[in-house]
This record gives sequence, structure tokens and C-alpha cells, in this order.
Amino acid sequence: MTTANLAAIVLAAGQGTRMKSDLHKVLHPIGGKPMVQHLLDSLTHLSPSRTVVVIGAKGEQLEQSLQGVEFVKQGEQLGTGHAVQCALPSLEGFEGDLLVLYGDVPFISEQTMHRMVSTLAEEDDCGLVVLGFEASDPAAYGRLIKGADGSLERIVEFKDAAPQERAVTLCNSGMMLIEGGSATDWLASLNNDNAAGEFYLTDLVEIANKSGRSVAVVETDEAELMGINSRSELAAAEAIFQSKMRDAAMADGVSLVAPETVFFSFDTKLGRDVVIEPNVVFAPGVTVEDGSTIKAFSHLEGATVRTGASVGPYARLRPAADIGPGAKIGNFVEIKKATLAEGVKVSHLTYIGDATIGAHANIGAGTITCNYDGFLKYQTTIGAGAFIGSNSALVAPVTIGDNANVGAGSVVTKDVEGDALGVSRARQRNIEGYAAKFRKEKSAEKAARNAKKKD
Ligand code: UD1
Ligand code: MG
Repeated sequence: MTTANLAAIVLAAGQGTRMKSDLHKVLHPIGGKPMVQHLLDSLTHLSPSRTVVVIGAKGEQLEQSLQGVEFVKQGEQLGTGHAVQCALPSLEGFEGDLLVLYGDVPFISEQTMHRMVSTLAEEDDCGLVVLGFEASDPAAYGRLIKGADGSLERIVEFKDAAPQERAVTLCNSGMMLIEGGSATDWLASLNNDNAAGEFYLTDLVEIANKSGRSVAVVETDEAELMGINSRSELAAAEAIFQSKMRDAAMADGVSLVAPETVFFSFDTKLGRDVVIEPNVVFAPGVTVEDGSTIKAFSHLEGATVRTGASVGPYARLRPAADIGPGAKIGNFVEIKKATLAEGVKVSHLTYIGDATIGAHANIGAGTITCNYDGFLKYQTTIGAGAFIGSNSALVAPVTIGDNANVGAGSVVTKDVEGDALGVSRARQRNIEGYAAKFRKEKSAEKAARNAKKKD
């Protein structure tokens, strides 16, 4: 469904004081994505013809990080009504309806926004749709006061509410849809004659009613309307997001052994029959294909794990790690910007960075690709079927040929040809009887010292 005749106005000019942050409040991430981007992404399903973000303090941070939207500045924060008024000059000539959203209320669903759009279109004489909810703790929310016919009469702000109005539990989310034809006139007639001395957007309800138009309420679940003002509310929003991601993953055929210990990003992609053991973290940009296992305590970011591979426990996959089908990454292994072909094994205590590794190569415990000289990064290429002995340092740029071996403990600075053995360590020498002689001498020395101490 497209809604060509809709402009979204996203309010984000508030100071965000309670967040106590140098980062703009709405840029704080949930599941690795700025909270306001969650809202903008849901909004794209409505295909609004314009999206205007109202900015104030730290607005330049939003200008830098958000794409595909327009910005207007609200110099002084004189209230939600004033914020919407500030967006009007940039919408001059636009005749569609105006959907007002809050940048710090990120979880509103596309279905809810669609319900608001269809209510405005379908209800008789409807000029305004307000999004409301039954609050478990109505606290300081504006209260929705309905008339006998069920239509909305007015919204009373908590500060201005009488005791019987405060007893109402149906609350204002703050979000509303204003019919385009009337929006400009209605917004122009707002005043700041109230307890807060602000231009209340909520006064539009009475204004619409007075001009003979009805006002509808669309209700939705409180969880969808959660606003984020503090670090603890941010953590609560993260918990809600994670719980949704876990449920979605399991519904798609992923096994989570201990779901509450696994953390996803907004874009984590997991195939069917993937098994995720406890305490795994997915930073942004990870894809895990069908039938793979991510073992306990692994951290993945920007990585692809192909079909049937096994990663961890205690593995770290960093950006551009591409783990081939059936490959095995074991404990305390870090992989960055490296492509591993099918069946590669990197089982223990290894760093692989800026490398390509051919099919079925075996990388021994403690292997390090020395990819950095303090200035630049260099590439390591390991051929198919190669065997790298334990505790080897591969000093890049360097190539190990197909089916070549590297002797354990080697520091490899020159290329090793296919089928060859590269070994670079001092040749071993055995001295007969040395250990026994040493033992005898040293125990005599120790006994002499102990005898001296007792004197
Ligand atoms: C508003 C509603 C209230 C509702 C509550 C829901 C009004 C008058 N009141 O109250 O009925 O229950 O939201 O959370 O609308 N903003 C600006 N510029 C301003 C003022 C606010 O951009 O001048 C933005 C804020 O950044 C925020 C949003 O608008 O994203 C809401 O502002 P806030 O001050 O939190 O409104 P409330 O007083 O909570
Ligand atoms: Mg508020």
C-alpha cells in the first residue's frame, strides 16, 4: 500500500536532557541502529512523499546521520504545536495529510500507521486521528477525553487536568494524523494559554471539533508507544527489541539454547537449523547460513558464516570475515577481512587477518598472520589443502601454495611453493646425558646451600 499524499513530520527538537549525553537522544542505538532510524524505516512502508525532521539542539548530528529526509530548525522549543508549525513553511504547496511522529518513540508499527491513515479516510467527516493507548501507569501523559458518541472531544495535559480527568487511563501517545486541507488553518490558531505556557499540538482536537470535524482515536498497545528519555528507558527498549528478535529467529527455525543470553543487531540474518549456543553477540552485518552452529561466548560483526560451518566457542569474527561451507573456527580464534573456503579448519588460538585460505587447509594452533607493519596492511594467501604447523608466524605479504606444509614454529617471510615444506627455525640438536648431569650438579648445589643456612 502506498500513501502518496502523506507527509511525515518527525519531532526531534527536544533537549534530551535526561539522557545526559553528547550524542543526540534519537541517535542512541537500539539493536545497533539509531532509534530514530527504526522509526524512519517503518515509515518507508507508507511511502510518504515528504519526511521532515524538526531539529533543535545537536540537530547537526541528525543532518549528518540521516538520509532521505528534510530538516527544519525549531530555534526555541515552544511546544509540540510550535514544532509542527515550524515544519509548515517547508511543506508550502503540499496538500496531503500530515502524520506527526516523535523521534524518541521508535517502535510504532507500519500497521498502526496504516490504521491511522485508513481511519482518516474512512470515518465520516473525520479531520484528525489521534493515536492513543490504555496506560498501565498513566503518570504525566495527556488524557484523551471522549464524548458520548465515542469520538474524541479534547486532550487535556496532565498539568492542566482536573482530578476526574487524571483518573482517565486512555492516554495520548502524542502522534496524530492531520487532514491536509485543514492543517495549516488549525495549526495557525494554536495559542499558549495553558499551565506550561506552550503551544500544545493537542489543542488541535478541540479546534477540529469546533470547525465541525470529528476526531477519531486509534488505539494500540502501550509497548509500541514506548518513549525513550533516559539510559534506563533505552535499556528497556533494547530488551524489548532483543526479545522480538529472539522470537522471530526461533519462529524462522533457529535454535537458541538460552534465548535471553543471545544479542542480535537489527540486520542479523540467520538461516534454517542454525544453532546458537548461550552468550553469543551479533554486532551489525552478520549472516549465518543454514545448518551452522555458533558456539557459546562468540562475538560476530560484519561476518558471513556459510552453510554447515561451526564457529566457537569463544571465537571472534570481525568485519569481512567470510567462513566457508563446513569450515570450523575454534576457541580463541580471531578472523578479520579474510575469506576461508570450504572445510577450512582454524581450531585454536589463532589470528587470521587480510587473508584468503583455500579449501580444506588446516591452520595449526597459535598461527598468526602478521598483517601489519605499523603503517600498512598486507595480504596472506594460503592455498587449498595447505597445512600450517602450530605456532607459525606468516609475515605478510606472503603466499603458501596449494598442499604445502609449514613446519611448526616457523616465521615465514618468503613464499612457500605448492607441495613444498617451508620451515624456518634452528635445527634441533640433542646432547646425550646432559639432563642427568645437570640434575646431579644442581641438586648438589642446592643441598650445599641448605646446609649453610642451618649453621
Ligand atoms: C506530549 C503530549 C502529551 C502526550 C505525550 C506523550 C502535547 C502538548 N502533549 O507531552 O499529551 O501524552 O507527549 O509522550 O503535545 N518536541 C519538539 N519541540 C518542542 C517540544 C517537543 O520537537 O518544542 C518534541 C520532543 O523532542 C519529543 C516530542 O516532541 O520528541 C514530545 O515532546 P515532550 O516535551 O516530551 O511532550 P510531553 O510534554 O511529554
Ligand atoms: Mg514527553
